[in-house]
Amino acid sequence: MTIENELFNLALNARTNAYAPYSGFAVGAAILASEKAMFSGCNVENVSYPCGTCAETGAIAAMVAAGYRQIKAILIIADTDEIRPCGNCLQKISEFATPETLIYCANLQQIVKTYRLIDLLPQQFSFSERKDGK
Ligand code: THU
Repeated sequence: MTIENELFNLALNARTNAYAPYSGFAVGAAILASEKAMFSGCNVENVSYPCGTCAETGAIAAMVAAGYRQIKAILIIADTDEIRPCGNCLQKISEFATPETLIYCANLQQIVKTYRLIDLLPQQFSFSERKDGK
């Protein structure tokens, strides 16, 4: 199975656990963090709407909690051809990615679009005094 297919299946499966009673819009995400490590997430909404979290956020948290700090690729899945990470998630992805990191956007059947992070977020927020020197 290709890495893309593995990410697809992982994200599709995570999406089935999405908690989205307010929007009715279930999203899944899966991250390739290393050759052997993949992490998934789903959106988790809240009755206090702004408290809800995106699928990408959940996958990033799972990755970091497991000790990984690199997003080599990420796949987002929803029941639409139009899915793309929101602006907030692009910034979160950029913390652990490079401008060339691939973002696969999938409907429930297949990947419909592939972007590089730089295509969707050409100028992320950063600051020169970062302690890690990036
Ligand atoms: N959502 C995600 O999980 N990821 C995105 O990139 C876009 C939006 C979720 C948030 C909310 O639970 C629902 O989709 C509708 O906006």
